[in-house]
Amino acid sequence: MHCVRKVTDTLYWVGANDRHTPLFENIHPIPQGVSYNSYLLLDEKTVLFDCVDWSAAPQLVENVAHLLNGRALDYIVLHHLEPDHGAGLWAILQRWPNAAVVSSLAAQRFMDQFGFAPAGGERIVAKEGERLSFGRHAITFYAAPMVHWPDVMVSFEETDGVLFTADAFGTFGALNGKLFNDELDFPHAWLPEARRYYANIVGKYGPPVQALLSKAAALGDRLKLLCPLHGPVWRTDLAWFMGKYDLWSRYQPEDNALLLVYGSMYGGTEQAAEALAIALAERGVDVSLYDVSTTPISHLIAESFRCSHIALASVTYNMDFFPPIRDLLEDMKALNLQNRTFAVMENGTWNPAAAKLLASFVTGELTGCTLLEPKLTLRSTLSQSQAPELEAMADAIAASLRP
Ligand code: FEO
Repeated sequence: MHCVRKVTDTLYWVGANDRHTPLFENIHPIPQGVSYNSYLLLDEKTVLFDCVDWSAAPQLVENVAHLLNGRALDYIVLHHLEPDHGAGLWAILQRWPNAAVVSSLAAQRFMDQFGFAPAGGERIVAKEGERLSFGRHAITFYAAPMVHWPDVMVSFEETDGVLFTADAFGTFGALNGKLFNDELDFPHAWLPEARRYYANIVGKYGPPVQALLSKAAALGDRLKLLCPLHGPVWRTDLAWFMGKYDLWSRYQPEDNALLLVYGSMYGGTEQAAEALAIALAERGVDVSLYDVSTTPISHLIAESFRCSHIALASVTYNMDFFPPIRDLLEDMKALNLQNRTFAVMENGTWNPAAAKLLASFVTGELTGCTLLEPKLTLRSTLSQSQAPELEAMADAIAASLRP
């Protein structure tokens, strides 16, 4: 059975939802699934915009065959060749071998490397600013390299104001029948997953995202719809979502809030982090508390993109800080997280060493990040006599958070 939805009078969503894959890119948990979006334009020419993951290729073929209803498929436009969008090309070309494949030059190279397209078919290389007409509709290509692979292009369809955005403006989460952002409670139910998708998949590439936002802004009022490769189609509140992308890609926090992450072995550091969270809440601080050992790192990365302040509480482990805390900091560095204010707390039963090393990492390895004083040192547990030290740390964090 086909599963399609109309986007405009002539454009259809023909993608598929994946509720089976546990890890996106075999790294990031996706308990609510993910969608692989493809779109089909029916004009004088027929055009498939992007394919799907290999696991969803049978559904894509069924959807396209249903809408074509015996017509030929003239073009396949691939904005991005990563296998979650490119692997389904093989199945499409098995069914419609005469379709011309349109993509960037880099995508054509990747297509061959992955083996997604047999040799001999017609291929068209799209370049920045080039226009391709399909009848009543035409698209103009814009390069968007490193959003999030070097092959990425986006295209703008002029008649209906559709921007095909590749991975940009994507979201984790299967669509559950609701295709459009205004059919969802996006700001509450979906924004955390959109942020987690952005921060972990595209977060490293802030400047390329800024370049894409500039190109989108130049479209002005002609821009009506955002059609990404994952998650809902945007037909309202485009400026709101693009504003989130602007903040994230400039590494500016969304919220004046504290992310508090602890790495604890036997509960002493956890208890101190709990006590700090209470002291902060009593001071009106918006604090979120996580155990680094049990929280997927992609969630902590997303929270670090949201919050202005980050407090780390770590045991000393092999004369270093806790390995999962190191993994988190290394991931922050890899994803270019910048412009945050940190506070640190250490624990060590006989030789606490974590705080100095944490401070060195934060100020030496992360761009534009600063460290608050005082630090706090525990010896196995937070003793009652250290209550004033905890209060002083809470005061310093709360004062720094005050606008
Ligand atoms: Fe959804 Fe970069 O692929």
